[in-house]
Amino acid sequence: MEQYVIKGGNPLVGEVEIAGAKNAALAILAASIMTDETILIENMPNVRDTNVLLEAIQEIGATVERVSKSCVKVNGSTIQALSVDYEFIKKIRASYYLLGALLGKYKHAEVPLPGGCNIGSRPIDQHLKGFRALGASVEIRHGAIVTQADELKGSHIFLDVVSVGATINIMMAASLANGRTIIENAAREPHVVDVANFLNSMGANIKGAGTDVIRIKGVEKLHKTEYSIIPDQIEAGTFMFAAAATRGDVLVRNVIPKHLEATTAKLEEIGCEVEEFDDAVRVMANRSLRRTHVKTLPYPGYPTDMQPQIAVTLAMAQGTSIVTESIFENRFKYVDELSRMGANIKVQGNTAIIDGVSSLAGARVCASDLRAGAALVIAGLAAEGITIIDDIVYIQRGYEDFEVKLRSLGAEIEKVSSEKEIQKFRLRVS
Ligand code: UD1
Repeated sequence: MEQYVIKGGNPLVGEVEIAGAKNAALAILAASIMTDETILIENMPNVRDTNVLLEAIQEIGATVERVSKSCVKVNGSTIQALSVDYEFIKKIRASYYLLGALLGKYKHAEVPLPGGCNIGSRPIDQHLKGFRALGASVEIRHGAIVTQADELKGSHIFLDVVSVGATINIMMAASLANGRTIIENAAREPHVVDVANFLNSMGANIKGAGTDVIRIKGVEKLHKTEYSIIPDQIEAGTFMFAAAATRGDVLVRNVIPKHLEATTAKLEEIGCEVEEFDDAVRVMANRSLRRTHVKTLPYPGYPTDMQPQIAVTLAMAQGTSIVTESIFENRFKYVDELSRMGANIKVQGNTAIIDGVSSLAGARVCASDLRAGAALVIAGLAAEGITIIDDIVYIQRGYEDFEVKLRSLGAEIEKVSSEKEIQKFRLRVS
């Protein structure tokens, strides 16, 4: 089992390049099998989640060619099976995008029902409601969702909750339905727009992505394209908070500053200076950090995937901050680990009350999910002494070369897999 070992205390200083957006990439990879022609995808993040999904589409017969670390070719003409193995869905919930993609193209898909996960129960009823509205039958058979239709027909769908996954899944299936579909109360996240742009570049006819009403005119078939994925706003935001928490000065490159506005606003509120460029942002944290309140919301609100990163930064800011999680029910699991590092945080329901402390102290902690794991890394970078983080497999789901990028900013962090290596690190940094 790999771990991170970190000696904290170095301000992060320098430049870092952000990879393609993992959450856009997952949907785009699934959508790339919706044509029999070859799709070329650039700016593909080389992280565990995208690699598992690539394996899953290969497993059902698609041809995958890795052109380079961040470029992949996919050809869906060789698909033989419409049933996805549980092994994959167990590792990444986003395999559920294969439901919309396969249903659209073949009018039939079988994908195991994703289970619960570490950030709480995550129903997919809105995805299924959308498929049914398009005229597909949806049944649960032996733990799998089986959906099929003789013909998909455009429909008017009002989502009961704003769901990124449901919006994208319905958009994919509806692209190859007969007639027009309208999705109301749609999610407006940048990756919803990116997936719509990708599908449009394949010949789909989707309008309104980025607003809460998306209109799709079904087309008969989709064709080849070459597409570059947008930068990952969550990876970028994570480095922005790492700069703040370590009182550093970091230029975060290859970003779309507009997508980072909620994060930037909070950093300014807590006392950082943020400079925006065309495709970069610079975070300077040369003053002491102040308290603030934050509530997670669908885009353009403050993202739930950035909640642990701001909480850990506020744990070291002056005053009392309140963080409210309104998207997922169980997203404060990492708080116990932060407390072991000296943070003073009380969780009541979906709210964390954070009394800032002057510093954290290194400890052995465990990542409970992807973003919580990233937050523990930030804590370790800012803390005094040595932090060891177990279960970094979660962090590797979504951060490409995380420790390499952090080291280039002056962090002392290493990926290790034995006590001996930890001892070696201790000796080297002492
Ligand atoms: C996506 C992101 C995830 C991010 C989340 C919210 C991917 C692969 N994952 O997850 O990183 O944290 O958006 O920005 O892109 N809900 C229902 N019924 C449904 C679907 C969702 O009740 O059918 C609820 C969920 O429980 C949650 C809320 O809607 O409370 C938002 O979930 P959703 O936007 O669907 O999240 P995901 O697409 O799973």
